[in-house]
Amino acid sequence: MAKEIISVQGNNTLTGTVQISGAKNSALKLIAASILAQGRCVIRNVPCISDIDVMSEVLEVLGASVKRGDESDDEHTLVIDTSSIDSYETPYELVSKMRASISVLGPLIGRFGRALVAMPGGCQIGARKIDMHLRGLEALGVEFSIDHGYLTADAKEGLHGAHVVLDFPSVGATENLLMAAVVASGTTVIANAAREPEIVDLANMLNEMGAKVSDAGSSIVTVEGVELSSLHPCEHVTVGDRIEAGTFLVGGALTGGPLTVMNVSPDYLHMAIAKLREMGCMVRVGADWITVSREAKLLPVEIQTLPHPGFPTDLQAQFMLLAACAKGTSVITENVFENRFMFAAELARMGAEIVIEDHHAIVRGGRKLQGAPVSSTDLRAGAALVLAGIVAEGETRVHKIDHIDRGYENYVGKLRSLGAEITRGLPYPNHRHTVRIGTDI
Ligand code: UD1
Repeated sequence: MAKEIISVQGNNTLTGTVQISGAKNSALKLIAASILAQGRCVIRNVPCISDIDVMSEVLEVLGASVKRGDESDDEHTLVIDTSSIDSYETPYELVSKMRASISVLGPLIGRFGRALVAMPGGCQIGARKIDMHLRGLEALGVEFSIDHGYLTADAKEGLHGAHVVLDFPSVGATENLLMAAVVASGTTVIANAAREPEIVDLANMLNEMGAKVSDAGSSIVTVEGVELSSLHPCEHVTVGDRIEAGTFLVGGALTGGPLTVMNVSPDYLHMAIAKLREMGCMVRVGADWITVSREAKLLPVEIQTLPHPGFPTDLQAQFMLLAACAKGTSVITENVFENRFMFAAELARMGAEIVIEDHHAIVRGGRKLQGAPVSSTDLRAGAALVLAGIVAEGETRVHKIDHIDRGYENYVGKLRSLGAEITRGLPYPNHRHTVRIGTDI
């Protein structure tokens, strides 16, 4: 069956203001955390994207009721009642659709003392192991076994506090540990914890539920365990999506802007803003907005992705595109994932010159990009390919846009409101690139 594509006309500019949605990577974990509340949680500012639909399905399979829209009928509000959860099994069909389903592991163990979750495999951007999740939870008293592709977790003697040092500040491992530790007896210390704003958002929601988490957002997070029965439902507002905001800022930087992103804290984007300035952009910030504009030529840059507050790997493809449009040689180093340069090959199809050497991308920028048929390789790459189409010569058709739908709410509508000539729909049958020949030959 034909799948929808996004078609975009090039040589365009993006100007104006765009509202940023709630953070995907926060909302997914907030939904998982509601398992511990055993009642009706209300989560606001939840983006309308397909990953949230999958996470909602995960909770429904466990027995929860999940509804979009409350009394005010706001589709960005999720009302989740987890009092009826009567299963601790998350099936392969859902975990294979979305790896982040693994974040129910911690809260299920917290609530039931056990969990049965299909093992997530690797994915296109790397092996993406879960060894740190498991080692950390083992320290809290959980025993694991793997049988026929399923991970069984059992805290036979109950959960107890522990001092856990993560090998790497893994976002997912920090979150799973937090969600189990809040109901472990005694104190848990997570050292070398991830410091992403989404971790802080999760800790805030857990505390609103009655947990005792301190210093989230720093490298050492402390959790005083409380009784499961003392956790209660809460209302929580998801933080703005720094990666969506960063993506639109790149769009403004590429085309000159001015472009303003609203509803996101500039504090979440220090490194991306610094790199935009290094590349010749003007960036102004307010409490919950950022404006980018550019009059001078783009300059080449050196970027290394690192855990927060370093440069986010989820903005690496977008900045590679920016580097491809800057005259000179840029070097982009990917330190977080093993194989996150597939985007380079697609961008090369549009005329970019990029050499990959191990985990470095050497971008010889400055050539005018050409519109071409391209495919999203992951959600960030997909979003960047659409932006590439906006500055390229001619038409770009982006395929496999279900990746974009996973993480960007109404991407086409938001870009159109900023001036993009962009449509989404089924490809024309036998669509070919045609060269018009005049009639007067
Ligand atoms: C989360 C984000 C993702 C982002 C990433 C890094 C969600 C849903 N996804 O993914 O968008 O790109 O953080 O900012 O929030 N690792 C191990 N063993 C483990 C855990 C991780 O080796 O037990 C490795 C991974 O393979 C990867 C690196 O650590 O190379 C970082 O992974 P992690 O921070 O855990 O990312 P995710 O939580 O999967």
